[in-house]
Amino acid sequence: MKRILILLFFFLPISAQAEVPSFSTWINTRGSALSVFFVDPATGAFSGTYVNRAAGFECQDVPYAAVGASKGTSVTFRVDWKGVLIPDCHSTTVWTGLLVGSTLKTKWRLDYTGSDGKPHTMYGRDVFTKQ
Ligand code: BTN
Repeated sequence: MKRILILLFFFLPISAQAEVPSFSTWINTRGSALSVFFVDPATGAFSGTYVNRAAGFECQDVPYAAVGASKGTSVTFRVDWKGVLIPDCHSTTVWTGLLVGSTLKTKWRLDYTGSDGKPHTMYGRDVFTKQ
């Protein structure tokens, strides 16, 4: 019993720190910013905003709603590039990744409607650093 308590004492704080913290900001190498508001400790669900500053993309410099979940080291979040009184890019991005210390390494999928009116998909990677 004593050994179990000692193990819990050492490992619980480490696993708690592995998750994305509430009220944290993450900047990626393209200059975009994910701001995480409250993270529900029961589910890992979070909401926040995403400001896109990546060259070559639309819907720049405006905060869009971001929703996601953080469980252990795995993180996923999504941005629908539309909102009230802000540009509608007719697109959605989903990021999935792993948290290693203060670095969040992700892969993303961007679904958008092209100028041909047809659906298209782009894939890429983003690395975010906690500010
Ligand atoms: C669009 O152009 O349809 C909307 C903006 C998309 C921005 C993409 S999402 C993946 C990549 N990482 C960023 O920070 N911005 C671009």
